[in-house]
Amino acid sequence: MNHLQIKNLNAEIEGKQILKDFCLDIKEGEIHVIMGPNGTGKSTLSKIIMGNPTYTVTNGTITYKEQNILSLSPDQRSHLGIFLGMQLPNEIEGVTGADFLRTALHEKEGDSFNLMRFIKRVDEISMQLKMDKNMIHRSINQGFSGGEKKKNEILQMYLLEPSFVMLDEIDSGLDVDSLKIVGENIMKYYHEKKPAILIITHYQRLLDYIKPDFVHIIKEGTIIKTGDASLVKEIEKNGFDLQDSESTVKEEV
Ligand SMILES: Nc1ncnc2c1ncn2[C@@H]1O[C@H](COP(=O)(O)OP(=O)(O)O)[C@@H](O)[C@H]1O
Ligand SMILES: [Mg+2]
Repeated sequence: MNHLQIKNLNAEIEGKQILKDFCLDIKEGEIHVIMGPNGTGKSTLSKIIMGNPTYTVTNGTITYKEQNILSLSPDQRSHLGIFLGMQLPNEIEGVTGADFLRTALHEKEGDSFNLMRFIKRVDEISMQLKMDKNMIHRSINQGFSGGEKKKNEILQMYLLEPSFVMLDEIDSGLDVDSLKIVGENIMKYYHEKKPAILIITHYQRLLDYIKPDFVHIIKEGTIIKTGDASLVKEIEKNGFDLQDSESTVKEEV
């Protein structure tokens, strides 16, 4: 069962506690959204799930497919099917997108890797994402616009076929057309592969395309409220200050 369970996760960087008793349960086929103000630990959470060694987990557990993943390296986690589309994708000089993806897929698929199939898939997905086909032959993310970097993360997702997808602020830096393409392609992938998805955002606009099962609000490193998609509307109207929002909602009723 592709089930991610986070229990009482506490994590710090340079002695500063970022996540506090953080708990989250994401089952196969569920779409979860985490929203919250800047600096509350959203990116930290995604990087810890992926295995970024900069952060220290001081307490708690993360399991995926019934394995404790905290002891696994990032590439082992990737092999288990975990994927992170980053808020600020790295630029890598001298390594082309094609080199990177071919190597990653070759490692994942072993002897069954097929170069012709890979090239065909890259062409198909680039077209689907309305990306310039030649971009894959440039150094990763170098000179890419914000929108191109984000589409490139989605391209990687399609090729690596993860069973648990995290997308951190995938909507930032996107114009309305790219937002639509990215949003629709996330849902297309969802319908094809039925992964578990965790979307991190602080805008509601991506949710015009993506219909979450659960919406969580994070504040100071912990989830303070969970609801369904209607919580997004509440946040849109009243911001993240829930005490205010609750009283406002009552007044309107
Ligand atoms: N590499 C780092 N070094 C020092 N502090 C960091 C680092 N990464 C994150 N932090 C701090 O952790 C807190 C949470 O950051 P982050 O997870 O990026 O927030 P969010 O994604 O919710 O905006 C912030 O106060 C940030 O300054
Ligand atoms: Mg962030």
